[in-house]
Amino acid sequence: MGIEDILMHDESLFQNINAFDPDYVPPNYNFRDTQMEAMAMSIRPAMSGGQPSNAVILGSPATGKTTAIKKVFELVEKNTEKVICVYINCQLHTTRFGVFSQIHKKIFGHTPPETGVPFARVYTKIMQELQNKGQSLIIAFDDVNYLFQSKNANKLFYDILRAYEEFPGVRTSIFAILSDLEFKYAFDKNVNTVFIPQEISFPLYSYTEIEDILNDRVKAGFFPNVLSDDILEQIATYTYDSGDLRTGINFLRSCGNIAEADASREIKQEHFDKAIDSLVSVNVSELLNSLDDLEMSLLKLIVNSEKNIAAGKLGEAFKDKENISYAHYNRILDKLEFLRLIDTKYTGSGSVGNSRQVILRFNPDVFDI
Ligand SMILES: Nc1ncnc2c1ncn2[C@@H]1O[C@H](COP(=O)(O)OP(=O)(O)OP(=O)(O)O)[C@@H](O)[C@H]1O
Ligand SMILES: [Mg+2]
Repeated sequence: MGIEDILMHDESLFQNINAFDPDYVPPNYNFRDTQMEAMAMSIRPAMSGGQPSNAVILGSPATGKTTAIKKVFELVEKNTEKVICVYINCQLHTTRFGVFSQIHKKIFGHTPPETGVPFARVYTKIMQELQNKGQSLIIAFDDVNYLFQSKNANKLFYDILRAYEEFPGVRTSIFAILSDLEFKYAFDKNVNTVFIPQEISFPLYSYTEIEDILNDRVKAGFFPNVLSDDILEQIATYTYDSGDLRTGINFLRSCGNIAEADASREIKQEHFDKAIDSLVSVNVSELLNSLDDLEMSLLKLIVNSEKNIAAGKLGEAFKDKENISYAHYNRILDKLEFLRLIDTKYTGSGSVGNSRQVILRFNPDVFDI
């Protein structure tokens, strides 16, 4: 097909292409009842004028944390006017003023003017309103680690959780959402003892859960019979291996786009294969961009070394090249493995350090490194 045909082609495989968008909220939201019940338990006291409790919500990327909190907040607001729920995306709002502007917006319907209004006035206005109306305030800080970078977490948490000292009767609590165990330690260091949370964890989805979720998405997004069970299984396997449900959802869309560009009425094996190739290269180039100089230097060395080189031998070469310690080299190697750019495999033979092989996980020809 020519470019114009692609653009103007009006037969689509997609029943609802938005079903694959990152902000699509699936009507069927399964496998997270335990976690959502725990959230509800934390909030419940506030429904009858009591003190809601604080929570840390912890889980790997794409395990459903953001979706779950949004669903729970929606339910709370549907059922009571006693509780104000504010969702803060900490990638977007990191300052005290920025966060309280969002709270202001939720309560009064608009943000305060950006200039000329001191923080204290906005803060007081919010807390007095809560006091007068007898409402509780629950704030979800999503991706809360971004607050640590701006070093605002401690102050903000204090502003919110100690509000009752200045405004008696005001009840507040915080849900802090984190996607990495590493951040949990940073969190404990960054936020003082005003915040004593219960922990709610979101485990990785199992293979069957992934298959089920993707199948629901296929039904919502594609017309019937566009995607066969066989290809769905392959996508589910790929998603499970990648450990990231988002990969699977994006993948469904790519397969659809590729099949559509091919004027096909269904997604065939060749479309799946093509989608895999393009996905891998997009993911890898994103990862490559995130590496620092030393990490990139080691990766280049691996690309240019013999296949499956022994870790010890690679280490010697890297030490010569960059003049760093063996321990430092090992940390960089671990990071590359963590990013799934390489695998290391124990062979069970050879001297210490040489018993591990380093295996490249992507095809270096495609990349200009
Ligand atoms: N149980 C589920 N059912 C259907 N879709 C789900 C489910 N869990 C997650 N998803 C989908 O997976 C994607 C990621 O979910 P979400 O954004 O809630 O994850 P997250 O844990 O907040 O991830 P991150 O840590 O990266 O912010 C979304 O598209 C969401 O719709
Ligand atoms: Mg999230």
